[in-house]
Amino acid sequence: MTDEKPALRLENIVKTFPGVRALDDVSFAVMPGEVHALMGENGAGKSTLMKVLGGILQPNEGRIFIEEESTIMTTPLDAKAKGVVFIHQELSLADELSVAENIFLGELPRKSFGRVDWGKLYEQTDAILKTLNVGFNARTRVGDLSIANQQMVEIARALTVDPRAVIFDEPTASLTDAEKVVLFDVIADLKSRGVGIVYISHRMEEIFKITDRISVLRDGQYRGTLETAKTDEDEVTQLMIGRSLDLSRNEEHREHGEVALEVRGLSCGDLYRDVSFKVHRGEVVGFYGLVGAGRTEIAETIFGLRDPSEGQILLDGQELRIHSPVDAIRHGISLVPEDRKGQGLVLGMNCRDNMTLPQVDDLTAGPFVSDGAEIAIFDQYRDKLDIRTPGWRQTVGNLSGGNQQKIVIGKWLSMHPNVLIVDEPTRGIDVGSKSEIHNLIRDLAGQGYAVIVISSEMPEVLHVSDRIVAMYHGRIMREFSAEEVTEDSLIQAISGIESEKVA
Ligand SMILES: Nc1ncnc2c1ncn2[C@@H]1O[C@H](COP(=O)(O)OP(=O)(O)OP(=O)(O)O)[C@@H](O)[C@H]1O
Ligand SMILES: [Mg+2]
Repeated sequence: MTDEKPALRLENIVKTFPGVRALDDVSFAVMPGEVHALMGENGAGKSTLMKVLGGILQPNEGRIFIEEESTIMTTPLDAKAKGVVFIHQELSLADELSVAENIFLGELPRKSFGRVDWGKLYEQTDAILKTLNVGFNARTRVGDLSIANQQMVEIARALTVDPRAVIFDEPTASLTDAEKVVLFDVIADLKSRGVGIVYISHRMEEIFKITDRISVLRDGQYRGTLETAKTDEDEVTQLMIGRSLDLSRNEEHREHGEVALEVRGLSCGDLYRDVSFKVHRGEVVGFYGLVGAGRTEIAETIFGLRDPSEGQILLDGQELRIHSPVDAIRHGISLVPEDRKGQGLVLGMNCRDNMTLPQVDDLTAGPFVSDGAEIAIFDQYRDKLDIRTPGWRQTVGNLSGGNQQKIVIGKWLSMHPNVLIVDEPTRGIDVGSKSEIHNLIRDLAGQGYAVIVISSEMPEVLHVSDRIVAMYHGRIMREFSAEEVTEDSLIQAISGIESEKVA
């Protein structure tokens, strides 16, 4: 491999934004047929570096080489023409258009006289979709797809050309395990064809499963490159955040208070059936299952976004009638949604206003809530969650992906809810901040809040929960206490295998 030319190479790249030196003299290379991980904390500069490579951003300084020939990437289409395809962290699809139109946007096949060749468009699209094994077709409207499926459309879009390098920026954040298998097959196939792959992810298991080398950025600076086979999670974490982390199971057994939230026989059409559970004050209940098991839909029902077809929701023993999020918030129920982009943030608004948004009612109803109070709330949660931004005035859309998520989490935490439901709380969050958020969740419960954590990551569920509810296809399969749960029993339960309890 030593005398082989890199497929792509970036040399001494500098990129600044007002108040931020996002990339400070970074060099980076991908070899043909290599899967090269790019890691670093939220805001370290990973997406920015790849946007420079993908023609989305122009660097202030530095050079780009394709097979050692100097080049300039003027636009994303230019980069694509030069064989560099970028699969984005933030979905950039048009909801109103079909899957086929999204995949071939800007490059629709045409007949003579310039009319779109719909037959050919659908045929080509379905051929690509077939290789991805997805459950939708070329004509499906993108807005009707789940986030996971939208991510698959984004991936399909990359496969329309014969690329030299493909950049995956946190591609698995919202994929199911089955979809991940398909994605990893796609990556293996690209690799065998000599395509260079850059893979950005905060998930260590994946990094160690599929990558050959790992490069680390920290605060916009290059920190080093490790060979995956010759390193371990601890060394990578050290390089990323300068310290080691404790990612063990929750072994703190504390006394819980009264039942805060109770759900009895709740059903919602085909989404989930006959769901009953309780959450005590001071307790963290983890909901574990595969994407699509119905966990998000239950949370949405409790938060008033869906009406149940049957069943009751009780708070402190009183039955609640919740028909909208306003009702839920009034009863002190908060939901940190899974789709933080769609449901949680106003991208054009500044950090402070995004964080204090749900309190606007209170603020306008109350007598004098000054700017100062809002800034104080923002500062408090910026410190607690280590949100990297030059200040509260920064537009949320300019923050790194993970830091945007922290703003949403801060927004709901700052309301001091009775019941806090967090859906995939650390998706897209770096390992260091992940453990901070886990500690914060444990602390909140310690202060008497009732907390539900929905997560598809087993280590996370094991780390934060006092009790774990395992779901499969819209049903609760089993409940485990933190003491009794094992990884095997949990996997069985969420795969629909009914385990007989041995007495
Ligand atoms: N358009 C922009 N305007 C201002 N600042 C920006 C802009 N884009 C990125 N930044 C800043 O540059 C820094 C690097 O951001 P980047 O998105 O590259 O981080 P990242 O490593 O991808 O993080 P994450 O893991 O959270 O996705 C951050 O401080 C971010 O706020
Ligand atoms: Mg990013």
